[in-house]
Amino acid sequence: MIPGVDEKYPTVLAPLAGWSDSAFRRLCKAFGVDMVYTEMVSADGARREQEKTLALAEFGESERPIAIQLFGAEPETVAAAVRIIAQRQPEFIDINFGCPARKVIKRGAGGALLRDLSLLQTIAEAAVKATNIPISAKLRLGWDGDSINIVQAAQRLQDVGVKMLAIHARTQSQHFKGWPDWSFIRMVKKAVTVPVIGNGDIKSAFDAKRMFDETGCDAVMVGRAACGNPWIFRQIKGFLDEHMEPEPPTCAERLNVCLQHFDLAVEIYGAAQAIRTMKKQIVLYVKGFPNASDLRKRILALDSCEKMRRVLLEQLAVFSQKVQTNSAKMI
Ligand SMILES: Cc1cc2nc3c(=O)[nH]c(=O)nc-3n(C[C@H](O)[C@H](O)[C@H](O)COP(=O)(O)O)c2cc1C
Repeated sequence: MIPGVDEKYPTVLAPLAGWSDSAFRRLCKAFGVDMVYTEMVSADGARREQEKTLALAEFGESERPIAIQLFGAEPETVAAAVRIIAQRQPEFIDINFGCPARKVIKRGAGGALLRDLSLLQTIAEAAVKATNIPISAKLRLGWDGDSINIVQAAQRLQDVGVKMLAIHARTQSQHFKGWPDWSFIRMVKKAVTVPVIGNGDIKSAFDAKRMFDETGCDAVMVGRAACGNPWIFRQIKGFLDEHMEPEPPTCAERLNVCLQHFDLAVEIYGAAQAIRTMKKQIVLYVKGFPNASDLRKRILALDSCEKMRRVLLEQLAVFSQKVQTNSAKMI
């Protein structure tokens, strides 16, 4: 069990750089997610108390329980960043040992550390010693298919006091390609006593059930499938707790939630930032609409929050009208 989470089948929002910001995390909480992670935060930037870096670690009380995720390549830098981040009192401070992004690997951080388990362990130990807040870690299976070392890495992390592990069941070199091999999550679960979170290609409530059943994991972590689709957390809960068939949201529901998301982003970040960061999210909410292609082009061309709201409300009126006409027909 994850400390502080009582649910039988806990769900977790994955750290998603550029996506899992405070507005999105709050929205996912409203849809029942049990725990959230921030986007990855540079330990170097945090240690230097860079404003932009620390902004990524900001969160509202309603987002708890939350893990603030750091990435870094040197034990001292990570420890210094942990001390600064700890002032925010998150439930966990997470260390990223899986990111395959070139700029992170080049610095020797993220997934690069899977090639050097001694350094990975030393970084985790330095983080544990720097704070009383539980340290967690998020990992991939290994550097590549020939060097899978996840069980060893997990045991080493537990040995130095890491309190929770999240495993994306791909190697670093796979990036997001190929199938994740969930059997390694099961192996880790058997090899350690700390809670293990299963991650990789959970796209539906059915997948979430399969992840729990096949791996025995303590929680499921959803990343990409939650983008433009925070309903997935409600669907997983409904399916696993009450055997409810997951119902897809209607276009009108999608637009309503999209508007809420947009308003939250404007409230938290201000209009200028919200219009910049929200377009890609809004495009996902309208994916699959009958007029998605035109709508997408219109959305991407908008340059103000007022125009964005107008377009979304216009669409909402169209779909709400359709719903009314259809229900009238049924009567
Ligand atoms: C756009 C994007 C950004 C990501 N950012 C992070 C990150 O900041 N930290 C991290 O540990 N993983 C990050 N990941 C990996 C996800 O947390 C997750 O492990 C991966 O997407 C697999 O889960 P999924 O199949 O549910 O998406 C990112 C993935 C994507 C697609």
